[in-house]
Amino acid sequence: MEEKLQKISESAVLEIEKADSLPALNEVRMAILGKKGELTAVLKGMKDVAPEDRPKVGQMVNETREKIESALEAKKTKLEAEALKKRYESEKIDVTIPGEVHKHGNLHPVTQVRNQLIDIFGSMGFEVYEGTEIETDHYNFTALNTPQDHPARDMQDTFYLSPEFLLRTQTSAGQIHVMEAKKPPIKIISPGKVFRSDDDATHSPMFTQMEGLVVDKGITLCDLKGMLDELVKKIFGEETTTRLRPSYFPFTEPSVEVDVSCFQCGGKGCSLCKGTGWIEVLGAGVVNNKVLQGCGIDTDVYSGFAFGIGIERIAMLKYGINNIKLLFESDLRVLDQIDD
Ligand code: PHE
Repeated sequence: MEEKLQKISESAVLEIEKADSLPALNEVRMAILGKKGELTAVLKGMKDVAPEDRPKVGQMVNETREKIESALEAKKTKLEAEALKKRYESEKIDVTIPGEVHKHGNLHPVTQVRNQLIDIFGSMGFEVYEGTEIETDHYNFTALNTPQDHPARDMQDTFYLSPEFLLRTQTSAGQIHVMEAKKPPIKIISPGKVFRSDDDATHSPMFTQMEGLVVDKGITLCDLKGMLDELVKKIFGEETTTRLRPSYFPFTEPSVEVDVSCFQCGGKGCSLCKGTGWIEVLGAGVVNNKVLQGCGIDTDVYSGFAFGIGIERIAMLKYGINNIKLLFESDLRVLDQIDD
Protein backbone atom coordinates (compact mmCIF):
# COMPACT_ATOMS: atom_id res chain seq x y z
CA MET A 1 0.00 0.00 0.00
CA GLU A 2 2.74 2.34 0.90
CA GLU A 3 4.37 1.68 -2.42
CA LYS A 4 1.16 2.31 -4.29
CA LEU A 5 0.66 5.64 -2.58
CA GLN A 6 4.26 6.52 -3.26
CA LYS A 7 3.71 5.83 -6.95
CA ILE A 8 0.53 7.85 -7.09
CA SER A 9 2.30 10.73 -5.41
CA GLU A 10 5.30 10.61 -7.72
CA SER A 11 3.29 10.40 -10.91
CA ALA A 12 1.01 13.16 -9.61
CA VAL A 13 3.95 15.47 -9.05
CA LEU A 14 5.16 14.74 -12.59
CA GLU A 15 1.74 15.35 -14.13
CA ILE A 16 1.35 18.57 -12.18
CA GLU A 17 4.74 19.68 -13.38
CA LYS A 18 3.75 18.99 -17.00
CA ALA A 19 0.41 20.83 -16.87
CA ASP A 20 0.91 24.06 -18.80
CA SER A 21 -2.46 25.75 -18.37
CA LEU A 22 -5.15 26.11 -15.74
CA PRO A 23 -7.61 23.80 -17.58
CA ALA A 24 -4.84 21.16 -17.98
CA LEU A 25 -4.04 21.42 -14.28
CA ASN A 26 -7.69 20.94 -13.44
CA GLU A 27 -7.72 17.75 -15.50
CA VAL A 28 -4.79 16.45 -13.51
CA ARG A 29 -6.64 17.25 -10.26
CA MET A 30 -9.71 15.33 -11.47
CA ALA A 31 -7.60 12.33 -12.51
CA ILE A 32 -6.20 12.02 -9.00
CA LEU A 33 -8.64 13.58 -6.56
CA GLY A 34 -11.88 13.51 -8.58
CA LYS A 35 -14.73 11.06 -8.03
CA LYS A 36 -13.03 8.54 -10.28
CA GLY A 37 -9.51 9.64 -9.36
CA GLU A 38 -6.67 7.35 -8.43
CA LEU A 39 -6.42 8.47 -4.80
CA THR A 40 -10.19 8.41 -4.40
CA ALA A 41 -10.09 4.78 -5.55
CA VAL A 42 -7.57 4.04 -2.79
CA LEU A 43 -9.88 5.69 -0.23
CA LYS A 44 -12.76 3.63 -1.48
CA GLY A 45 -10.62 0.49 -0.95
CA MET A 46 -10.12 1.26 2.76
CA LYS A 47 -12.89 -1.10 3.67
CA ASP A 48 -10.67 -4.00 2.52
CA VAL A 49 -7.83 -2.95 4.80
CA ALA A 50 -7.50 -4.84 8.07
CA PRO A 51 -9.10 -2.76 10.85
CA GLU A 52 -5.87 -2.58 12.84
CA ASP A 53 -4.01 -1.14 9.81
CA ARG A 54 -6.63 1.43 8.97
CA PRO A 55 -5.39 4.32 11.11
CA LYS A 56 -1.90 3.99 9.65
CA VAL A 57 -3.07 3.61 6.05
CA GLY A 58 -5.58 6.42 6.56
CA GLN A 59 -2.80 8.71 7.77
CA MET A 60 -0.64 7.77 4.76
CA VAL A 61 -3.50 8.48 2.35
CA ASN A 62 -4.08 11.84 4.01
CA GLU A 63 -0.44 12.77 3.81
CA THR A 64 -0.32 11.85 0.15
CA ARG A 65 -3.44 13.89 -0.50
CA GLU A 66 -2.04 16.90 1.30
CA LYS A 67 1.19 16.65 -0.61
CA ILE A 68 -0.63 16.47 -3.95
CA GLU A 69 -2.96 19.31 -3.03
CA SER A 70 -0.15 21.60 -2.04
CA ALA A 71 1.65 20.76 -5.31
CA LEU A 72 -1.57 21.57 -7.21
CA GLU A 73 -1.98 24.84 -5.34
CA ALA A 74 1.60 25.90 -5.97
CA LYS A 75 1.28 25.16 -9.66
CA LYS A 76 -2.05 26.98 -9.84
CA THR A 77 -0.53 30.11 -8.32
CA LYS A 78 2.33 29.93 -10.80
CA LEU A 79 0.05 29.44 -13.82
CA GLU A 80 -2.23 32.27 -12.71
CA ALA A 81 0.71 34.62 -12.36
CA GLU A 82 1.90 33.65 -15.86
CA ALA A 83 -1.58 34.19 -17.33
CA LEU A 84 -1.80 37.61 -15.72
CA LYS A 85 1.61 38.55 -17.02
CA LYS A 86 0.63 37.50 -20.52
CA ARG A 87 -2.55 39.57 -20.31
CA TYR A 88 -0.65 42.62 -19.10
CA GLU A 89 1.77 42.19 -21.95
CA SER A 90 -0.98 41.93 -24.57
CA GLU A 91 -2.78 44.96 -23.15
CA LYS A 92 0.32 47.03 -22.81
CA ILE A 93 -0.02 50.65 -23.93
CA ASP A 94 2.88 52.84 -24.81
CA VAL A 95 1.83 56.15 -23.35
CA THR A 96 4.72 57.90 -25.04
CA ILE A 97 3.40 57.26 -28.58
CA PRO A 98 2.08 60.54 -30.03
CA GLY A 99 -1.74 60.62 -30.23
CA GLU A 100 -3.56 60.17 -33.51
CA VAL A 101 -4.88 63.47 -34.76
CA HIS A 102 -8.55 63.17 -35.65
CA LYS A 103 -9.35 65.72 -38.28
CA HIS A 104 -12.79 67.12 -37.75
CA GLY A 105 -14.72 68.37 -40.74
CA ASN A 106 -16.34 71.77 -41.03
CA LEU A 107 -19.31 73.17 -42.84
CA HIS A 108 -18.90 74.66 -46.30
CA PRO A 109 -18.20 78.43 -46.11
CA VAL A 110 -21.47 79.17 -47.93
CA THR A 111 -23.34 77.07 -45.37
CA GLN A 112 -21.47 78.79 -42.55
CA VAL A 113 -22.48 82.26 -43.79
CA ARG A 114 -26.02 81.06 -44.46
CA ASN A 115 -26.28 79.75 -40.89
CA GLN A 116 -24.75 82.92 -39.45
CA LEU A 117 -27.29 85.03 -41.34
CA ILE A 118 -30.16 82.79 -40.23
CA ASP A 119 -28.95 83.24 -36.63
CA ILE A 120 -28.73 87.02 -36.94
CA PHE A 121 -32.13 87.36 -38.64
CA GLY A 122 -33.61 84.79 -36.28
CA SER A 123 -32.57 86.99 -33.35
CA MET A 124 -34.41 89.89 -35.05
CA GLY A 125 -37.59 87.83 -35.26
CA PHE A 126 -37.46 86.66 -38.88
CA GLU A 127 -38.89 83.27 -39.82
CA VAL A 128 -37.33 81.07 -42.51
CA TYR A 129 -39.31 80.24 -45.64
CA GLU A 130 -37.69 77.85 -48.10
CA GLY A 131 -39.01 78.04 -51.64
CA THR A 132 -38.36 75.73 -54.57
CA GLU A 133 -35.54 75.90 -57.11
CA ILE A 134 -37.89 75.28 -60.02
CA GLU A 135 -40.34 78.14 -60.35
CA THR A 136 -42.90 79.37 -62.79
CA ASP A 137 -42.30 82.41 -64.94
CA HIS A 138 -45.20 83.99 -63.04
CA TYR A 139 -43.64 83.80 -59.56
CA ASN A 140 -40.09 84.55 -60.69
CA PHE A 141 -40.99 87.53 -62.89
CA THR A 142 -44.56 88.51 -63.68
CA ALA A 143 -45.85 88.72 -60.09
CA LEU A 144 -42.71 90.69 -59.26
CA ASN A 145 -43.82 93.44 -61.63
CA THR A 146 -41.62 92.09 -64.42
CA PRO A 147 -44.07 91.03 -67.16
CA GLN A 148 -43.05 89.37 -70.44
CA ASP A 149 -40.93 91.71 -72.57
CA HIS A 150 -40.09 93.90 -69.57
CA PRO A 151 -36.55 95.15 -70.17
CA ALA A 152 -35.61 94.23 -66.58
CA ARG A 153 -35.76 90.55 -67.58
CA ASP A 154 -32.46 91.20 -69.31
CA MET A 155 -30.85 91.85 -65.91
CA GLN A 156 -30.97 88.11 -65.29
CA ASP A 157 -30.09 85.56 -67.96
CA THR A 158 -32.59 82.84 -67.31
CA PHE A 159 -32.44 79.06 -67.69
CA TYR A 160 -35.90 78.17 -68.99
CA LEU A 161 -37.09 74.58 -68.61
CA SER A 162 -40.20 75.30 -70.73
CA PRO A 163 -42.05 78.51 -71.61
CA GLU A 164 -43.76 78.24 -68.21
CA PHE A 165 -41.09 76.73 -65.93
CA LEU A 166 -37.60 77.96 -65.14
CA LEU A 167 -34.77 77.65 -62.61
CA ARG A 168 -35.44 80.57 -60.29
CA THR A 169 -33.10 83.48 -60.94
CA GLN A 170 -33.80 85.08 -57.56
CA THR A 171 -35.21 84.09 -54.20
CA SER A 172 -37.59 87.05 -54.63
CA ALA A 173 -40.00 84.48 -56.10
CA GLY A 174 -40.52 83.36 -52.49
CA GLN A 175 -41.91 86.81 -51.55
CA ILE A 176 -45.00 86.17 -53.64
CA HIS A 177 -45.61 82.69 -52.21
CA VAL A 178 -45.34 84.04 -48.66
CA MET A 179 -47.64 87.03 -49.29
CA GLU A 180 -50.22 84.79 -50.94
CA ALA A 181 -50.17 82.38 -48.02
CA LYS A 182 -49.94 84.77 -45.09
CA LYS A 183 -51.55 88.01 -43.99
CA PRO A 184 -49.30 90.81 -42.66
CA PRO A 185 -47.43 91.25 -40.41
CA ILE A 186 -44.86 89.32 -42.42
CA LYS A 187 -41.21 89.02 -41.48
CA ILE A 188 -39.38 86.28 -43.34
CA ILE A 189 -36.04 85.37 -44.82
CA SER A 190 -35.73 82.87 -47.63
CA PRO A 191 -32.33 81.31 -48.31
CA GLY A 192 -31.69 79.13 -51.35
CA LYS A 193 -29.92 78.39 -54.60
CA VAL A 194 -30.59 80.54 -57.63
CA PHE A 195 -29.49 80.11 -61.25
CA ARG A 196 -28.38 82.49 -63.97
CA SER A 197 -26.53 81.97 -67.21
CA ASP A 198 -23.55 83.94 -65.97
CA ASP A 199 -19.98 82.81 -65.48
CA ASP A 200 -16.83 84.72 -64.51
CA ALA A 201 -14.55 85.31 -61.49
CA THR A 202 -17.35 86.84 -59.43
CA HIS A 203 -20.36 85.10 -61.02
CA SER A 204 -21.38 81.47 -61.05
CA PRO A 205 -24.34 79.91 -62.91
CA MET A 206 -25.54 78.64 -59.53
CA PHE A 207 -25.22 80.70 -56.39
CA THR A 208 -27.01 81.28 -53.14
CA GLN A 209 -29.20 84.16 -52.07
CA MET A 210 -31.04 85.12 -48.97
CA GLU A 211 -34.22 87.06 -49.51
CA GLY A 212 -35.76 89.15 -46.78
CA LEU A 213 -39.29 90.53 -46.66
CA VAL A 214 -41.02 92.63 -44.03
CA VAL A 215 -44.63 93.79 -44.50
CA ASP A 216 -46.48 95.62 -41.76
CA LYS A 217 -48.18 98.92 -40.96
CA GLY A 218 -45.94 101.94 -41.42
CA ILE A 219 -42.82 100.24 -42.77
CA THR A 220 -40.44 102.70 -44.49
CA LEU A 221 -36.98 102.84 -46.00
CA CYS A 222 -35.74 103.98 -42.56
CA ASP A 223 -36.67 100.60 -41.10
CA LEU A 224 -34.65 98.93 -43.84
CA LYS A 225 -31.63 101.14 -43.20
CA GLY A 226 -31.83 100.58 -39.42
CA MET A 227 -32.02 96.83 -39.84
CA LEU A 228 -29.16 96.77 -42.35
CA ASP A 229 -26.91 98.77 -40.00
CA GLU A 230 -27.51 96.15 -37.30
CA LEU A 231 -26.89 93.35 -39.77
CA VAL A 232 -23.55 94.57 -41.14
CA LYS A 233 -22.20 95.26 -37.66
CA LYS A 234 -22.91 91.66 -36.76
CA ILE A 235 -21.36 90.28 -39.96
CA PHE A 236 -18.38 92.57 -40.53
CA GLY A 237 -17.77 94.16 -37.12
CA GLU A 238 -19.03 96.96 -34.89
CA GLU A 239 -17.32 99.75 -36.87
CA THR A 240 -19.16 98.95 -40.11
CA THR A 241 -21.85 101.27 -41.45
CA THR A 242 -24.03 101.29 -44.57
CA ARG A 243 -24.93 103.71 -47.30
CA LEU A 244 -27.76 103.45 -49.78
CA ARG A 245 -27.40 104.30 -53.46
CA PRO A 246 -30.34 104.65 -55.82
CA SER A 247 -30.87 101.63 -58.04
CA TYR A 248 -33.60 99.87 -59.93
CA PHE A 249 -35.56 96.67 -59.38
CA PRO A 250 -39.06 96.30 -60.84
CA PHE A 251 -40.46 94.94 -57.56
CA THR A 252 -39.18 97.70 -55.25
CA GLU A 253 -39.81 101.44 -55.39
CA PRO A 254 -37.59 103.14 -54.44
CA SER A 255 -34.82 100.61 -55.01
CA VAL A 256 -31.34 100.81 -53.52
CA GLU A 257 -27.94 99.20 -53.70
CA VAL A 258 -26.48 98.84 -50.25
CA ASP A 259 -22.78 99.46 -49.65
CA VAL A 260 -20.90 98.74 -46.42
CA SER A 261 -17.97 100.84 -45.26
CA CYS A 262 -14.81 98.88 -46.08
CA PHE A 263 -14.10 96.67 -43.08
CA GLN A 264 -10.53 96.14 -44.23
CA CYS A 265 -9.32 99.75 -44.43
CA GLY A 266 -12.08 101.38 -42.38
CA GLY A 267 -13.07 103.57 -45.33
CA LYS A 268 -9.66 105.04 -46.24
CA GLY A 269 -9.50 103.12 -49.51
CA CYS A 270 -7.68 99.85 -50.21
CA SER A 271 -7.51 97.07 -52.77
CA LEU A 272 -10.61 95.33 -51.38
CA CYS A 273 -12.82 98.41 -51.81
CA LYS A 274 -10.89 99.47 -54.93
CA GLY A 275 -9.94 102.71 -53.25
CA THR A 276 -13.53 103.83 -52.72
CA GLY A 277 -13.91 102.99 -49.03
CA TRP A 278 -17.24 101.23 -49.79
CA ILE A 279 -18.20 97.72 -50.84
CA GLU A 280 -21.50 96.83 -52.49
CA VAL A 281 -23.21 93.98 -50.66
CA LEU A 282 -26.88 93.72 -51.56
CA GLY A 283 -29.95 95.02 -53.37
CA ALA A 284 -33.04 96.17 -51.55
CA GLY A 285 -35.94 98.57 -51.54
CA VAL A 286 -39.46 99.41 -50.48
CA VAL A 287 -41.83 96.78 -51.86
CA ASN A 288 -43.56 98.11 -54.97
CA ASN A 289 -47.27 98.70 -54.31
CA LYS A 290 -48.08 96.79 -57.49
CA VAL A 291 -46.49 93.68 -56.00
CA LEU A 292 -48.36 94.03 -52.69
CA GLN A 293 -51.68 94.66 -54.47
CA GLY A 294 -51.10 91.63 -56.71
CA CYS A 295 -50.99 89.55 -53.54
CA GLY A 296 -54.20 91.10 -52.18
CA ILE A 297 -52.51 93.33 -49.62
CA ASP A 298 -54.16 96.70 -48.91
CA THR A 299 -51.48 99.28 -49.67
CA ASP A 300 -53.42 102.02 -47.84
CA VAL A 301 -52.71 100.09 -44.63
CA TYR A 302 -49.55 98.14 -45.27
CA SER A 303 -46.13 98.71 -46.72
CA GLY A 304 -42.92 96.72 -46.71
CA PHE A 305 -39.26 96.44 -47.52
CA ALA A 306 -37.34 93.62 -49.20
CA PHE A 307 -33.70 92.79 -49.72
CA GLY A 308 -31.65 90.12 -51.46
CA ILE A 309 -28.21 89.12 -50.22
CA GLY A 310 -25.72 87.14 -52.29
CA ILE A 311 -24.32 84.66 -49.79
CA GLU A 312 -21.21 83.77 -51.81
CA ARG A 313 -20.44 87.48 -52.08
CA ILE A 314 -20.56 87.86 -48.30
CA ALA A 315 -18.42 84.72 -47.88
CA MET A 316 -15.85 86.02 -50.40
CA LEU A 317 -15.63 89.39 -48.65
CA LYS A 318 -15.54 87.93 -45.18
CA TYR A 319 -12.93 85.26 -45.86
CA GLY A 320 -10.88 87.11 -48.48
CA ILE A 321 -11.72 84.80 -51.41
CA ASN A 322 -11.08 86.45 -54.77
CA ASN A 323 -12.67 83.92 -57.13
CA ILE A 324 -16.18 82.53 -56.64
CA LYS A 325 -15.06 79.24 -58.26
CA LEU A 326 -12.97 78.48 -55.17
CA LEU A 327 -16.25 78.05 -53.33
CA PHE A 328 -17.46 75.37 -55.71
CA GLU A 329 -14.31 73.38 -56.45
CA SER A 330 -14.35 71.40 -53.17
CA ASP A 331 -10.61 71.95 -52.73
CA LEU A 332 -9.97 70.99 -49.11
CA ARG A 333 -6.88 73.21 -48.96
CA VAL A 334 -9.26 76.15 -49.32
CA LEU A 335 -12.25 74.82 -47.39
CA ASP A 336 -10.16 73.63 -44.41
CA GLN A 337 -9.07 77.19 -43.69
CA ILE A 338 -12.58 78.50 -43.19
CA ASP A 339 -14.06 77.33 -39.92
CA ASP A 340 -15.89 80.10 -38.11
N1 PHE B 1 -33.73 89.86 -56.42
C1 PHE B 1 -32.76 90.88 -56.56
C2 PHE B 1 -31.57 90.28 -57.32
O1 PHE B 1 -31.43 89.13 -57.38
C3 PHE B 1 -32.29 91.40 -55.24
C4 PHE B 1 -33.38 92.13 -54.52
C5 PHE B 1 -34.19 91.46 -53.63
C6 PHE B 1 -33.58 93.48 -54.71
C7 PHE B 1 -35.19 92.13 -52.94
C8 PHE B 1 -34.56 94.15 -54.03
C9 PHE B 1 -35.36 93.48 -53.16
O2 PHE B 1 -30.76 90.97 -57.87
